[in-house]
Amino acid sequence: MNNCQTKCPAIRVVMFPKDTNPSGNIFGGVILSNIDIAAGVAARAVTHHRTVTVCMKEVIFNRPVKVGDILTFWADVIKTGRTSITIRVKVEAERRGEVIPVTEGEAIFVAVDQEDRPIPLDSPLGTQGGDGKTSAPTAPVPVASGETAAEKPAAESKSGDACAIDHAGSKKKKDKSSKKDKSKKKDKKKHKSEHRNKK
Ligand SMILES: CC(C)(COP(=O)(O)OP(=O)(O)OC[C@H]1O[C@@H](n2cnc3c(N)ncnc32)[C@H](O)[C@@H]1OP(=O)(O)O)[C@@H](O)C(=O)NCCC(=O)NCCS
Repeated sequence: MNNCQTKCPAIRVVMFPKDTNPSGNIFGGVILSNIDIAAGVAARAVTHHRTVTVCMKEVIFNRPVKVGDILTFWADVIKTGRTSITIRVKVEAERRGEVIPVTEGEAIFVAVDQEDRPIPLDSPLGTQGGDGKTSAPTAPVPVASGETAAEKPAAESKSGDACAIDHAGSKKKKDKSSKKDKSKKKDKKKHKSEHRNKK
C-alpha cells in the first residue's frame, strides 16, 4: 500500500560510508544539508518563487545515525509570513526494521526575486521585490541544496539570537559589534586625553 496517500516524507536518503565523521557515525553536516533540502521541498508547496535559506535553528541531534540507515525527512510548514516560510523537519532512521527518531530542527526560507530581494509569497511570478515593479514572468527556479528557504518572526530574526546557524544574520551581528568596538575605542581615547590633561 502507498502510505503517501495520507502523508509523504519530503525526502528519503540512504547513508553511505562517505558520509561518516572520524568516529564512524554520520557527520552532522550531512544531516543538516538534507534538512535544508527537505525544508526546500516543503517550501515549494507554499510559493512558486525561488526561495533561499535564511536560518536554520534548534537543530537537535538526539541519536547517532549509522552507515546503512535509511533516513526519512518529514517536513511541515508551521508558519508563513509576508515573505518567509518556517518549516519543521523531523528525521527518522530506519535500521534493521526499527524506526528511530534521530534529529529535528527548523528551517526558515525567504521567497526572493531575480535580484535576490525578498518578495511576498503570494505575489505573481515576475514581480520584483523592493520597488514593487513587475518584470516579464519567469519560470519557477527549483530549490537546490544550499539554496533553500523558510520563515521566522521579524523581531526574533533580526536579533539573530534564536538562530543556531544563521548565515544571513551573522553579517548584521558583525556590523553591530564593529560599531560597539569603535565607540569603546573613542571612550578609551577620551579617557587617555583627560588623564594627560590632569598631569
Ligand atoms: C534571505 C534574505 C534575502 C533576506 O534579506 P533581508 O534584507 O534580511 O530581508 P527582510 O529583512 O525584508 O526579511 C525578509 C523575511 O525574512 C525574515 N528574516 C530575515 N532575517 C531572518 C533571520 N535571521 N532569521 C529568520 N528570519 C529572518 C524576516 O522576518 C522576513 O520575514 P517576513 O517577510 O515573513 O516577515 C538575505 O538575508 C539573503 O540573501 N541571505 C542569503 C541567503 C542564502 O544565500 N542562503 C543560502 C545559504 S548560505
